[in-house]
Amino acid sequence: MSQVKLEDIVSLAKRRGFVFQASEIYGGLAGFYDYGPLGVELVNNLKQEWWKAMVREHDNIFGVDSAIIQNPKLWEASGHVGGFTDPLVEDTVTHKRYRADHLAGVDSNDLKELTKLLKDKKSPDGNPLSEPRVFNMMMKTYVGPVEDSESTAYLRPETAGPMFTNYENVRETMRAKLPFGVAQIGKAFRNEISPRDFIFRVRELEQMEMQYFIRPAEQEKTYEEWRDFAWKFLTERLGIDEKNLEWHEHDAKERAHYAAAAHDIYFKFPQGFKELWGTHNRTDYDLGAHQKASGKDLQYFDDQSQERFTPYVIESSVGVGRMLMAVLTDAYHEEEINGETRVVLKLKPDLAPYRVAVSPLLKNKPELAKKAREVYDALKKEFGNVMWDDNGNIGKRYRRQDEIGTPYCVVIDFGTLEDDTVTVRDRDTTKQTRVAIANLPSKLN
Ligand code: GAP
Repeated sequence: MSQVKLEDIVSLAKRRGFVFQASEIYGGLAGFYDYGPLGVELVNNLKQEWWKAMVREHDNIFGVDSAIIQNPKLWEASGHVGGFTDPLVEDTVTHKRYRADHLAGVDSNDLKELTKLLKDKKSPDGNPLSEPRVFNMMMKTYVGPVEDSESTAYLRPETAGPMFTNYENVRETMRAKLPFGVAQIGKAFRNEISPRDFIFRVRELEQMEMQYFIRPAEQEKTYEEWRDFAWKFLTERLGIDEKNLEWHEHDAKERAHYAAAAHDIYFKFPQGFKELWGTHNRTDYDLGAHQKASGKDLQYFDDQSQERFTPYVIESSVGVGRMLMAVLTDAYHEEEINGETRVVLKLKPDLAPYRVAVSPLLKNKPELAKKAREVYDALKKEFGNVMWDDNGNIGKRYRRQDEIGTPYCVVIDFGTLEDDTVTVRDRDTTKQTRVAIANLPSKLN
């Protein structure tokens, strides 16, 4: 189908309760969003799928759930206090701030290059621009009753940091040997200069990250394995069309301060191909830095080689919100059926917020409603995520369920009262089949 438009995704997300602007009744706050009833179900399914593939299906990957606020020394040692920056320019009349690299149309943090590229450029409002300068994206807060430099703390800008400081705790408690990984899902905060494109670039984000600790000699092979994992997860577990994905390798100007190599998977978002999932070779940068700053020995003694060394790290990192936006965009279809246009989310059944919707054909017939309730209760026990839908006529109910990606609709009619069969309507084909109630669990699975 033709390229999905951003306004279609934003409108569907709002209309059907996937994503709302945070504090909308007060005019919202740029870069902050809330998930609605459907969004939270879809996001939980995405997180569960990732956790299953990453943690449960690997004997040597262990989960943690760390605090958002850590000792600020962690972020000094990791280089974020000094180096987690984006280049910024200001409109000299309106004082609106912009990402200099975005205005220049390059992936670069190099101030000299940006100054050159922006020399004759104007702001989007047509005014002269300031010189580019660096801007630190760490969000600050104070811990305790006194607000001074001693009590300054940071909201974590990535979930990775506390996984490094917990490296030794996890290794010891799980008796882990290299290679092994530490994974977590959690919030991170970045004071983005220009949050934009709906939930693509936000200031409060959620990440799913895994740090894989390895012997230095394993870096190339392991890097390839985790790139492969990310691609397979998106295509096989989430069902994203390969045509909507491409690789992007970071050059030296684009790489984060901790990375020796970085490959992103780009997804074809409505605004174009953009970063979805990063695989990074962080070398011994983090453990080395924490070892130096904390004075704690984070070296590993290798039984095989009888050597002591600081492990290297391959990182796999993806944003939950971006994954949600990618899945919605990939699944979004507008189709012509019998002269009418329908919007349908072709989500994998395991990801859909609801697996099935149950309806009595006619709302005002108590015998149909009673039977439908019995079917609904039984399916609810079986699947959990089942919707009761008796609002409007049956065509409207199908359209509504199509829009939220419900794979099946089950309709109870007068025939059901005779022979205990129901109509099952398939979201993708729109075909209707007659199925015995007893066979519904296997049919809908
Ligand atoms: N620990 C490595 C790290 O944080 P990153 O490339 O800065 O690397 C990883 O971020 C992923 O987090 C990105 O690929 C993206 O999916 C998501 N992400 C980063 N910044 C984001 C933002 N401002 N809004 C939404 N998602 C973001």
